[in-house]
Amino acid sequence: MNQVIELLNAHRSIRKFTDRNVEQSTINTLVQAGQSAATSSFIQACTVIQVNDRSKRTSIAEWSGNQSYISDAHTFLVFCADMNRHQISCDMHKADMLSGYTEQFITATVDCALFAQNVAIAAESEGLGIVYIGGLRNKIDLVTETLKLPNLVYPVFGMCIGYPDQDPEVKPRLPLDVILKQDHYDDRDDPSLIAEYDQQVKAYYQNRTGGQKDMSWSEQISGMLQKEARPHMLHFLQSRGFLQK
Ligand SMILES: Cc1cc2nc3c(=O)[nH]c(=O)nc-3n(C[C@H](O)[C@H](O)[C@H](O)COP(=O)(O)O)c2cc1C
Repeated sequence: MNQVIELLNAHRSIRKFTDRNVEQSTINTLVQAGQSAATSSFIQACTVIQVNDRSKRTSIAEWSGNQSYISDAHTFLVFCADMNRHQISCDMHKADMLSGYTEQFITATVDCALFAQNVAIAAESEGLGIVYIGGLRNKIDLVTETLKLPNLVYPVFGMCIGYPDQDPEVKPRLPLDVILKQDHYDDRDDPSLIAEYDQQVKAYYQNRTGGQKDMSWSEQISGMLQKEARPHMLHFLQSRGFLQK
């Protein structure tokens, strides 16, 4: 296995950081590595807001469900799907922009995810730890207002970056046979494979929490999917010019 694949396979989210400084030049390098990701039709639809302001960080931490590492991490970035600069480009050429397509929402969001994952890998290759923060979508309207995001820009997720002050175990992933299908979709073996995997996840949680958490993957997922998933999102995105058609 080469070193890049070893690095990828060693990923684990970090939620406790030392107060060691991360140079701005390093952050710039990470964000530039993000820019190198593939981008749908060259749209380059990701904008990154580095949130330095302490009070903004505290508010976002609270809105995200009291995730204190948003305040504690050296760096906090918000990755935004951005079609505003495309509006600017159309205006430059006096062209009417047809916006609001679901397809555009997908491409901008995918661009952002690919960009962010490049940042994550680049950070980990520098010995930094990261955790994504989807929690900021709990109060996406307040985050949008705080970051002064214009129409056609929405915050997809945040990312805490800093030097790790913990060394959690790598979380086991689903068996390859559940994920990689040959020629067509076949889930006949999935129930038994998931049941086996459940035991692995239970052991992982038992070990991580000193026996406190006794939960399998399918239990976790079935619990999660009995709750509503941020039902405000559709209306919010539509109000910002996305998902009109
Ligand atoms: C888009 C996205 C949003 C996430 N949001 C949060 C979050 O708000 N808080 C958090 O602690 N972890 C968050 N995570 C981290 C996941 O919980 C974590 O990646 C997953 O449990 C797998 O664990 P690992 O990263 O340690 O392998 C998020 C991950 C992704 C990809």
